[in-house]
Amino acid sequence: MTPVIIALVFGYLLGSIPFGLLVTQAAGLGDVRKIGSGNIGATNVLRTGNKGLAALTLILDAVKGTAAVLIAANWGAEAGMAAGFASFVGHLFPVWLGFKGGKGVATYLGVLAAFAWKAALVFAVLWLAVAFLSRFSSLAALVAAIATPAILYIMGLNDCATVMLVMSILVFIKHHANISRLLGGTESKIGAKG
Ligand code: G3P
Repeated sequence: MTPVIIALVFGYLLGSIPFGLLVTQAAGLGDVRKIGSGNIGATNVLRTGNKGLAALTLILDAVKGTAAVLIAANWGAEAGMAAGFASFVGHLFPVWLGFKGGKGVATYLGVLAAFAWKAALVFAVLWLAVAFLSRFSSLAALVAAIATPAILYIMGLNDCATVMLVMSILVFIKHHANISRLLGGTESKIGAKG
């Protein structure tokens, strides 16, 4: 097997670990997919009322993306990019959950941090600014996902920009229900339960 194929398999398996589901189950909070938006990400874990578990989910979902890139980069730059992309796909479509995974925002940020930490900083600032002003986690993610490929192209990181552009498109596809709710005025705000 070539390093890129090994990186794809490795990245996918790492990314497919559903930390939001695992930490809430370990804490005795049941199946996070049965509350709120049904998502396994940090925003929905926060709807359990446990801020610590939401923060832990955010960190673990991001770190698995960063780790996938940094470990696989030892096998070559292309392998690093492949593993990052595959970890994101693994989070979105984990084989363990019948391919019904999360929306990928934390893992997106983790992969971006490994590609270009300055761009990840811009992503985080944009996310925080939009989230602070609107109180919508989904809107913050969508705005940051639009800006990221453009920022990477401006930085001259064209290969990374192309990978992140594909990931941004997947973020939008995974947020289709959120987009409908945002347009319909029924999206729930950060921290609101249900
Ligand atoms: O990171 C996911 C967020 O953008 C939306 O989450 O649970 O409100 O659909 P949720």
